Amino acid sequence: MELMNVKAIIDELKAGRSVSDAELEALLATEDADAVSYLAACAREVREKIYGKAVYIRGLIEFTNYCKNSCYYCGINCKNAKADRYRLSDEEILDCVREGYELGFRTFVLQGGEDPFYTDDKIISLIREIKSMHPDCAVTLSIGEKSEASYRAFFEAGADRYLLRHETASPEHYAKLHPGDLSFENRMNCLKTLRKIGFQVGCGMMVGSPYQTTQNLIADLRFISEFKPDMCGIGPFIPHKDTIFKNEPQGGLQLTLKLLSIIRLLVPDVLLPATTALGTIDPEGREKGLRHGANVVMPNLSPVNVRAKYAIYDGKICTGSESAECIKCLSARVKAAGYEIVVDRGDHKKMFVAE
Ligand code: 5AD
Ligand code: FES
Repeated sequence: MELMNVKAIIDELKAGRSVSDAELEALLATEDADAVSYLAACAREVREKIYGKAVYIRGLIEFTNYCKNSCYYCGINCKNAKADRYRLSDEEILDCVREGYELGFRTFVLQGGEDPFYTDDKIISLIREIKSMHPDCAVTLSIGEKSEASYRAFFEAGADRYLLRHETASPEHYAKLHPGDLSFENRMNCLKTLRKIGFQVGCGMMVGSPYQTTQNLIADLRFISEFKPDMCGIGPFIPHKDTIFKNEPQGGLQLTLKLLSIIRLLVPDVLLPATTALGTIDPEGREKGLRHGANVVMPNLSPVNVRAKYAIYDGKICTGSESAECIKCLSARVKAAGYEIVVDRGDHKKMFVAE
């Protein structure tokens, strides 16, 4: 498709009108620098209209790298005997929260593998503890697939948000990334249940994961546009040396940036993080993400001595001693990109668009 046509597709997306699969395909395929920079400019404009120059921060606490699942892409899957496993105690987790609060964080994300050691009761008491220490903070959970009863109990204990990437909106592709005991259907049901209970919900996928086709990405975009998540986490796939996908190529920077911009146009008010994976494949990846429509960063608040152990892919940034204060590093980066970190819960600013 010619440049004019690609720009016309971007204009349609920006105006909130529907575009065909063939048009999305043309947009995903274009390597024309003018078209891509026009797409980014539109994404920035839409983002700034709703969120201004604000960048929201989420303090990420990776509290366990034990996991009972064996997702093929993930470095901390249970089959990886080389993973150096750790669990943070309640005290260690609350110390991260205390420190984070001082630094200006008002959202804490408890992220971990699916680790049965942390029973519902343990998670509930952590949520209660954090909410009573800091009633002005949002608590986000990112601990995988649970029953509706568990999700409900977490919500009633005070958890506000839940991140659960859908990973891929195609059941066939899902089956190529996960072992047979994990199902696409259950993943989708979990997302719907979380929403029904009242959580602000985040979904998302990797870009360039093994076997991913352009049609799969289009299915992801359709799903995102229909589900309208509060948040959407997009990052490139990066191989991990101790997984069966070790020789698979990593996802592309340009494609990831393009997808960030398209998602910003499809769901104008979505919270869109410039992810650590994006910062890992390019030294300025997160800054580029912000300039392509992202408006959230998630600095690592975990104790420095465990960070390298939460190795879901190779080369993960923010794991060395220099990253003791990611927040300082990121603040400078956000500023250099022309944006500004705000101290606030950074709730989703819902736009009510007439259907
Ligand atoms: N490369 C990039 N992202 C990954 N994730 C897991 N493994 C990898 C990898 N090798 C992402 C998944 C998961 C999130 C926590 O991290 O999308 O949901
Ligand atoms: Fe972690 Fe830069 S953001 S070291």
